[in-house]
Amino acid sequence: MKRWIWCMLAMVLALTACGKSEGGQGDPELLLGFSQIGSESAWRVGNTNDILAQAEAYHIGLMFEDAKQKQENQIDAIRRFIAYKVDVIAFSPIVEDGWDNVLLEAKNAGIPVILVDRDISTKEEGLTTCLIGADFYSEGVKAGEYLLRKADSLGLERVNIVEITGTANSTPMRQRQAGFADAVAGDRRIHILESIDGDFIKSRGAECMKILLDKYGDEIDVVYSHNDEMTLGAIPVIEEAGLAPGKDIVVISIDGGQDAIDVLKQGKINCIVECTPRLGKELMETVLRLRNGEAVEKTIHPDEQVFSDEQDLSNLEPRGY
Ligand code: AHR
Repeated sequence: MKRWIWCMLAMVLALTACGKSEGGQGDPELLLGFSQIGSESAWRVGNTNDILAQAEAYHIGLMFEDAKQKQENQIDAIRRFIAYKVDVIAFSPIVEDGWDNVLLEAKNAGIPVILVDRDISTKEEGLTTCLIGADFYSEGVKAGEYLLRKADSLGLERVNIVEITGTANSTPMRQRQAGFADAVAGDRRIHILESIDGDFIKSRGAECMKILLDKYGDEIDVVYSHNDEMTLGAIPVIEEAGLAPGKDIVVISIDGGQDAIDVLKQGKINCIVECTPRLGKELMETVLRLRNGEAVEKTIHPDEQVFSDEQDLSNLEPRGY
């Protein structure tokens, strides 16, 4: 009984939050439990809005839980989804480790689990069905490749980089760092002075930039920041130090939200590697495939591009997040 109250309530909330349904081929009796990390960035808010809108469009009941940046809240939410006997569980894991027990409980309850956005690391195989999310390693490689082109075009003989990383032990942090490091490895001009944890949060991005500028001053040639939010926190700090972001310091970011794209157009960011938050459609399609007993791909990566000062960005469509 409780399960149906949740299902109806979730449908009503999704309809109210997202406006008129565009129709779809879903099943109103199908219930998806989704645990979101929180709202640390414009990307995350865009991802939440997309999932709510797509659940509505596909007429899939959604039990949505916001973990407020805490892994224990995500674990509690997954346990609630199991207790309510949802048909499918999906979640965006804040970090990679620590999921074995709760996912074993979901497996024993016969509920398939979809990873959205980020990956996990478990001792046991087969605790999740598939992953729908960006290829973070490739994003790091694209950032590194842009940097090498920029160093060539500026004729730099030595390039000192500071890296502001995302949440420690999260997939985007690990893979964006590894992809970037691999792309620049072997180029003798490149020196990563320090990597510092900015937790994907704007205020932390500002704090990290202050620490790095106090330590290295105008030795810094490049800031590689793992998301737009931290980049937008770092830029005013660079300006307060009397330096011009985009000129005195090359700024490379990841995501591609509207605020950062506007700053890229102003010349204060040099390159943004896209990470799209629009994963909701693929999630709903996958939920329906699982309901129909169809096979699903193990890993589904969206197509992503690079925005930079190498391009004419005047006709870029509004980003929508
Ligand atoms: O996992 C995706 C990352 O998480 C995005 O780059 C970032 O903005 C978000 O907080």
